[in-house]
Amino acid sequence: MDHTPRILMACSECYPVAKVGGMADVVGALPKYLVRCGVTPTVVMPRYDLPWFYEHEHELIHEGYLQFPHTVHPFRVIRYAPEVLGFELIAIDLPGLFDRASVYLDSNGEGYRDEPLRNISFQRAILQWWNTDPDRYDLLHCHDHMTGLMPFLMRYAYAYQGLSAKSVFFTIHNALHRGRLSWSVVSLLPHFDTWKSGLLEWDEAIDSLASALRCSDRINTVSPGYLEELPAASQGLEWIFQHESHKMIGLLNGVDYEVWNPSTDKYLAYHKKKSLEQFKKKNKEALIGSFATPGLPLFIFIGRFAHQKGVDVMLRAIHEHLLVRQDANFLILGSGDKDLEYQAQTLARTHSAHVSALVDYNEKLSHIMYAGADFLLMPSRVEPCGLNQMFSMRYGTVPVVHHTGGLKDTVPDITVDGNGISFNSVTTGDIMHAMHRSLELYADQAAMKALRSKISEIDLSWDASAEAYAQEYKSLLSRT
Ligand code: GLC
Repeated sequence: MDHTPRILMACSECYPVAKVGGMADVVGALPKYLVRCGVTPTVVMPRYDLPWFYEHEHELIHEGYLQFPHTVHPFRVIRYAPEVLGFELIAIDLPGLFDRASVYLDSNGEGYRDEPLRNISFQRAILQWWNTDPDRYDLLHCHDHMTGLMPFLMRYAYAYQGLSAKSVFFTIHNALHRGRLSWSVVSLLPHFDTWKSGLLEWDEAIDSLASALRCSDRINTVSPGYLEELPAASQGLEWIFQHESHKMIGLLNGVDYEVWNPSTDKYLAYHKKKSLEQFKKKNKEALIGSFATPGLPLFIFIGRFAHQKGVDVMLRAIHEHLLVRQDANFLILGSGDKDLEYQAQTLARTHSAHVSALVDYNEKLSHIMYAGADFLLMPSRVEPCGLNQMFSMRYGTVPVVHHTGGLKDTVPDITVDGNGISFNSVTTGDIMHAMHRSLELYADQAAMKALRSKISEIDLSWDASAEAYAQEYKSLLSRT
């Protein structure tokens, strides 16, 4: 190859353009670091009805039509030059399908009813456009099930034969979500070699993740710990994970140091100068106005209110803890499941002197929380990597985590000279015990100070992982 590898990264969210979860942080950061590793990345995502897309300079580079059995659907391809984000961004404009302000959920917090049409149209539009000039990119890198049909379609749909020999790399951020579609929507797909239908199917449905696992050339999970767990526990996909294990590796996510820097963070009023302790104290003061009882250790939770995140058990543990001891404050920020939102608000009403619960997605507040808190609670039942524990360590906040997935890799317990407090099962008892251990640590000022300083200096940057991704791309491309 006489040029640096050109990678097309397909995804449904990318920070700071549109963010719901950690995948957006990864897709917004990794490409910037890949540029330094001799790779030319382009991110392609849907164009949502969000201000970012209008506020930045862009150019229309392609217009086309998707052919469905009884209708055609227009699409436009819009380009944002690398000067905007540090890498090229392509937005696929599908009028009527993605020009909505929320990425996945409607105003009632439910998935959009036309999800299959949206999802398939986005993937088809990318491939149809790329196929007009296959040399534009050397390799496709897909992220999660929202882009999981592309590896199959590139190989076996007649319309994209120009792409059939291209390599595909696939990243699993979360295998709990599969993108399962009923076979009744198969006519939304372009014509493909039906002898290969089996590669789309798992458990009597079109399963986007299962198909991607079989049709991609190389697959990674976002931590080595998660990779170990999937062949034993992946809600029915165990056999595929066992069978495809030769293609799989675990590559730990990093933190974008341009965004997460205690000395320059644009969301913080108080930056870190010389003293980490001073930095934490000032930011804690900025938060503590929310509590009737200042001066206590502060635990925070930030994240999606979802079963996966263990929020239900954590809320019970906090309640039981405060019934007995009123020696800590808790600040909870997140949104999602309506029932959990209600439970969090009820907890805050019950223990109003010690608990504050904000049902919101608030990037600025989350930064102040990481900076000002003492402990971050992360009781996730499943955590493929987890970024919050890394953000918190960078800002000297001690993570208190369930020993699973990426949390296992990044937060060994302090009893083994690690980075935080970890517990073995997501039960009220284990979480309460972990909180007691945290409070003991807090009482030992010297130990707390030493740990804060140690975790704030661990190298969590993207440099090493980006290099590993670059090597993977290059090794795949050297085969072809
Ligand atoms: C998903 C996972 C999370 C991971 C993130 C980025 O949100 O649940 O563990 O850190 O993707 O890869």
